[in-house]
Amino acid sequence: MTVISPVRTRCPADLVTAIRTATQQHCDWQRTAELVADELRLHLPGADILTAAERAGSADGYQCHVLHAEPDGSFSVTAMVWRPGQVTPIHDHVTWCVFGVVQGVEYEELYALSGDGSHLSEVGRAQNNCGEVSGFAPPGDIHRVRNIGADVAISLHVYGADITRLGSSVRRIYDLPVAVS
Ligand SMILES: [Fe+2]
Repeated sequence: MTVISPVRTRCPADLVTAIRTATQQHCDWQRTAELVADELRLHLPGADILTAAERAGSADGYQCHVLHAEPDGSFSVTAMVWRPGQVTPIHDHVTWCVFGVVQGVEYEELYALSGDGSHLSEVGRAQNNCGEVSGFAPPGDIHRVRNIGADVAISLHVYGADITRLGSSVRRIYDLPVAVS
């Protein structure tokens, strides 16, 4: 994944203000994700928040464009662009995340780590359609995301950290067998 940082904020001011207000309630991660999801539903931008070139995606893999990094490091907003068939590794995250699909469909597989850490089990699947917003918070946030549609998929992601400083939202990539139940 390529992380492409902005030179300035590219998010609508109403969205940034709403996320800031939600995070400044200083709730736990799960509740913060719920509050931010409520705001993203109200203020979800269109895919045209990206340029036409950005919306085209890349043959090199899914792209991550940073649209806003809050100066105090409390959150950042990115746009992910997936061409058909592009997929993440199985991973979890350093912080809470809220995402909204603004074009296409994202398909998600959810996993749980076994007690001895030797393997994963699939515990759920979700299809996230255009206009839908979801949120989650660690722990229990191991997943893999892919574009199974015929068109480019685009989603906005809000993370509870400045991923331009961290370099990534990923805590760990899981290269483990997946148990078939
Ligand atoms: Fe993820």
